[in-house]
Amino acid sequence: MLQKLEKARGLAAAVLGAVLCAGSIPASAVQAQTAAPRNPPSVYSDFHPSLSDMMTMSIQPRHTKLGLALRAGNFTYAAYEVGELRGAFRRIAQSMPGYEGKDTAMLLSQANPPLDALTAAIRAKQPRAANAAFAELTATCNQCHQSQGRNYLIIRAPAASAFPDQDFTPH
Ligand code: HEC
Repeated sequence: MLQKLEKARGLAAAVLGAVLCAGSIPASAVQAQTAAPRNPPSVYSDFHPSLSDMMTMSIQPRHTKLGLALRAGNFTYAAYEVGELRGAFRRIAQSMPGYEGKDTAMLLSQANPPLDALTAAIRAKQPRAANAAFAELTATCNQCHQSQGRNYLIIRAPAASAFPDQDFTPH
């Protein structure tokens, strides 16, 4: 009799436990846990860089590095950095299709002619033409800033390296 009662109690506890468990962990969470992707999308969707953030992160350092590479006569690296800069402008337009009601891709396309001129000059290994195209690119940065009411954002050729751990000379 006592044994029967103990058994019944145990069963009741197990059932209660299962009910509580099921109640406290929603099925969606269990599913999300088992199907969790390697890089949860929330990590990325919680990051909302502004145009200024993206300029500071991906455009300004590459403009600096490109200037330093050209000064060092490093065409191989300069060619790479022109490609990186082009890609960075493209990705900014993808991440932020509109800026203050304007088409970002169209605004950023101003940078294409000087980037094309840079590619051509680097391919032809013409330092003077490359330097002229870099000056043209820098002027384009400032033209766009001015056109967006940001005439206090002034870009120039790098005065010094901001990257002490990177060698810009050709090897
Ligand atoms: C769309 C045209 C456009 C072009 C082309 C452009 N920029 Fe910008 N940039 C902007 C705008 C607009 C801002 C300000 C964004 C804001 O604060 O809302 C900005 C902001 C910046 C900032 C951030 C300022 C700070 O100090 O926090 C830097 C740095 C910058 N740009 C560098 C560059 C460089 C270097 C180039 C050229 C290689 C360039 N930009 C080309 C539009 C442009």
